[in-house]
Order: sequence, then C-alpha cells, then structure tokens
Amino acid sequence: MNAIKFLVKNLDKYRFKFFVIFIIGIFDGVVGFLIPVTLSEFTKTSLVIVNFSKVVAIIIALYVFSLILQWFVRRYGEALAMQFGIYLKVKFFKKLEALPVSQHINIHSGYVLSLISKVTDEFQSLVFSVFWVFAHSISHLLLFFIFTARESLLVAFYNTIILSIFVVVSIFLSKKMIPIAKELNIKRAGLLETYVDFMTNMLTIKKLNIYSFAENKIDQKVEDNYIQIQKLQNFHSNRWFILHALFGLTFVSTICYFLYQISQGDLSPSILILFVVAYAIIKGNVERLSEIFKRLMEMNTYIKSLDDILKNNKLSGDRKIADWQAIKIADVKFRHKETEKEIIIPDFKINKREKVCIIGKSGEGKTTFLNILANFLHPQEGKCLIDNISYKDINQDFFIKNVVVISQEVELFNISLRENIVLGRDIGDEKIFNIFKEVDLYNWAKMLPKGLDTIVGEKGIKLSAGQKQRINLIRGIVLDREIYLLDEPISHLDKKTAGKVIEFLKKNLSNKTAIIVTHHEVLKKICDKIYVAENNKLIKSF
Ligand SMILES: Nc1ncnc2c1ncn2[C@@H]1O[C@H](COP(=O)(O)OP(=O)(O)O)[C@@H](O)[C@H]1O
Ligand SMILES: [Mg+2]
Repeated sequence: MNAIKFLVKNLDKYRFKFFVIFIIGIFDGVVGFLIPVTLSEFTKTSLVIVNFSKVVAIIIALYVFSLILQWFVRRYGEALAMQFGIYLKVKFFKKLEALPVSQHINIHSGYVLSLISKVTDEFQSLVFSVFWVFAHSISHLLLFFIFTARESLLVAFYNTIILSIFVVVSIFLSKKMIPIAKELNIKRAGLLETYVDFMTNMLTIKKLNIYSFAENKIDQKVEDNYIQIQKLQNFHSNRWFILHALFGLTFVSTICYFLYQISQGDLSPSILILFVVAYAIIKGNVERLSEIFKRLMEMNTYIKSLDDILKNNKLSGDRKIADWQAIKIADVKFRHKETEKEIIIPDFKINKREKVCIIGKSGEGKTTFLNILANFLHPQEGKCLIDNISYKDINQDFFIKNVVVISQEVELFNISLRENIVLGRDIGDEKIFNIFKEVDLYNWAKMLPKGLDTIVGEKGIKLSAGQKQRINLIRGIVLDREIYLLDEPISHLDKKTAGKVIEFLKKNLSNKTAIIVTHHEVLKKICDKIYVAENNKLIKSF
C-alpha cells in the first residue's frame, strides 16, 4: 500500500508520539472488549449472576479505564493528526519549491494545490483513524480469536479462514479499482485545472463577458467526472456487498453453530453474550476499516500522481564557485517541449560587471534566453559555462545566491507594499521612501492611507501596471545580487517615469552584471554590448 508506506515514511518527528498513542489505542481496544468477556465469564454457570457486586465493580472499572484511554487518544491523537496534516502541507511546499523551473512550467499550480490539499487532509483523518479504528480493530480481532479458540478451536479456525479470504478479496478488489480511480483522477485533474484557471482569472472572464464560455467549459469537465464517479461508486458498492456478504456468512454460521452446541448442552448460553457483543464490535470495526480501506485505495492514486509531479529531475552538480569572470553560452540550440522551433545561441559572452542589451521582435526567444542564462531551462545542445565550468556541474546554490530574474509579468505577493520589497530582511522605511523618490513613487505612496502597510492584493491587483512594474524592479534591486536578468523592465512606463527609472537602474547596476531585454534607446546606452534576437537566433550587433 503506497499510502501506508507514505505515512510511515513521512512521520518524521511525530514517529514516537504516533506509536505511543497507537499502543494506547490498542490498550483501549483490549479494555473495551473485556466488558463482554467479563459478562460472559460471570454468567457461565448460570445466567443469574451470583457475584453481583464484583461484576458491577469490574464493569465500572473497565468502563472508566476505557474512558480515560479514549480521552487520551482524543486529546493527543486528534491534535497529532492535525499537526501532521499541516506538517505535510509544509513538506510538500518545500518539495515544490525545490523543483526546477523547467518542471514547474509543465504543471498547473491549481491542480497541484488541490492534490496536496486532498492528500494532506486525507492523511490527517487517516492518522486519527489509525488510533481510533486500526488500533481498536487489532486488539478486538486478536481477543476475538483468543476467546473463540478457548470455546471452540474449530470456530476460531473457521473464522480465521473466512476473515483471511476477506482480506485477500479486499486486496484483489483494490487492484481492480486502480485503473478506475486513475481514470477518475485524470478527469478530476482536468476539471480542477479548468476550475482553478477560471477561478483565478475571474476578472478576465468579467472583462471579456465570457460567462457562458467559462461555464460550458466547466460543465463539460463536470460531466466527464460524473461518468467516472458513477463507475467508481458502482465498483465500491459491489465491493461492499461482496465483503459484507462474507462477513454475514461468518456471523450467521458461527451463531448457528453455537446455538446448536447450546441446544446439545455442550456450551453455556452465556457464550451468546460474548458473541453477540463481540460480533457487533467487530462488525463496526470491519465497516469502518472497509471505509478507510476504500479511501486508502483512492489515496494510492493521488500519491502516485503527486509523486510523479514532485519527482525532482534536477541535473544539478556540486561544483562551488567562489569567484567568476565570465558567462559564456555557445552553440546552444533550445527547443521548448512540444514545439519544433529552435532557439539558437551561437556565441554569447558577458564578463563580470558588464551590461548587455538584448533587442528583437516578440517571439524571437529573448525571454527563453534569459531563462537559459538563469539555469531555469536546459538546452538540449550546446554549452552554458561560467569560467569554462558547465552549468550542469555547478551547484544550484550559485544561481540561488547570485541571480535575480526580473520578469516581464509582474507578480507581487498578496502582502503589504513594505513586505513585498523587504522580503524578510531588515530594511527601514526611510530607505524604501528614498528609493520611491528616485522612481517617482514617493508622492503616491505618501497619499496611501495605510502607506507601506497597504496590502497590494492578489498579484498586485490594487496597483497600476506602472506601479507594479516599479515595485517589482525595486524588489529585485533591493535583493542586491551579482547578476541581473531584466526582461523589458520599463515597458509599462511613460517616457518621463522611464527616464527616472533608467537613472535608478544605471546607478544600481553600475557594479553588477546585467542582461537587459529592452527596446528603449536610452537603456541601450547604459549597455556595453548589444545582441539582437532575429529569426530565433541571438547574434551580436556591431
Ligand atoms: N513554455 C513554453 N513552451 C512552449 N513554447 C514556448 C514556451 N515559452 C515560450 N515558447 C515559445 O518560444 C518562442 C520564444 O518565446 P519567448 O522566449 O518568450 O520570446 P520573446 O521573449 O522574444 O518574445 C515563442 O515562439 C514562444 O511561443
Ligand atoms: Mg519575452
């Protein structure tokens, strides 16, 4: 079972606590089961209980003990389950963060998010079920067999056989379910992608007034899902029927056998107390276990999908680079997945602290080139080198510590202006306001009722395009790294503001290495070299 393996593997710091609570759960199961056992024991010779006060005392003691154990499992087990769910969410986030950009491009963030939510929520409830249902079931089943064997080895043996068949049938059916659940998963992924895509672009739907387009698109995916859900539920009800028929068979035949023995005078009728209660307990367990089992089977497919997404195909080396002189990209041919067009970079070189401009029409591969430089995308052919060391051999840390990509699409976080710029570091408001003065944001920021505490909204929706672009730029510059890759950094600015921003860039990039994609003549002037992207080829301009 992938899901169980996954749980055991990921328990980490919760492992010890988990096992303690699990053992307590088993104990609780034992104590609960001892109540019908006691009743049965004391009524063995006669159904008129002789030792009334003793039996009552034992029953009350067992009940109170069981209550205390259950309180413990509720109190600590449920809390642990919740903590574990959150812990898993964070763990998945870190895994996602570690994925190379080339992998991120090919996954839909909404789908991954819902997959992660599904898995973590299910595991949260699974952990609690382990304490509450699994643990009880283990002790109940064990005691059931011990006490049955005491009365009749034959019955114990027979019950063991039927319950083993039960397990085998369950496993067999779970294998049959995999393709159905997988198919449902694919359909569900399709629905989620569309759903999340439209949800996060609700304003675009409104701007274009395309309600029926969006609804039809979603309805279509919903229909696909319904069909698949019906198939799966059909399967689950059949499975439920087969398993419960097996269980019923055991129950009825055992009871009949005991009744026969009692009628022959070979057994005391008190055995019926034990069996009827024990069977009720076991039946409850089996039902809940069967439900958990069903969810576990579905979980296996979710985990598999998530595993496929989070499989890190990173080709990162371990060469550390303390200092460097030049970056060279040579004989590179790059093809995006599912496209035929090649982007060619025959010979590109930038020395440390140089500024290079890239110009060229839209779609010529400028952004792709920046992504290759940043080691986000990996060319199928050619060399990417830092001082003759291949990108493939270089430790990813070099890029993390030294490179900032300021992309064309501005995406601010839904936090305050200040936090968007400071990003966790200790930078005073005065410094921010000084920068604001340089890029013509000061007057605007001063007028904001909440000033730097203004929350910018999802993706910075509460700011104008030009404001967003400047905040995005400042955010990058304030990071103060070595290598800047700027993709059309002033495209949304008017001439006067652009002039100010160029001055700001000139000053702040003077001792940096920068590659700037731009069409602005003034920006070209701060560059040492110019490359042109033409016919999907990046060539030096003389
Ligand atoms: N993730 C992608 N998958 C497939 N094709 C892509 C992807 N990103 C860009 N392209 C294609 O690569 C070409 C170059 O795109 P891009 O580098 O963004 O150009 P530019 O920045 O010069 O406008 C375009 O034809 C574009 O459609
Ligand atoms: Mg571009």
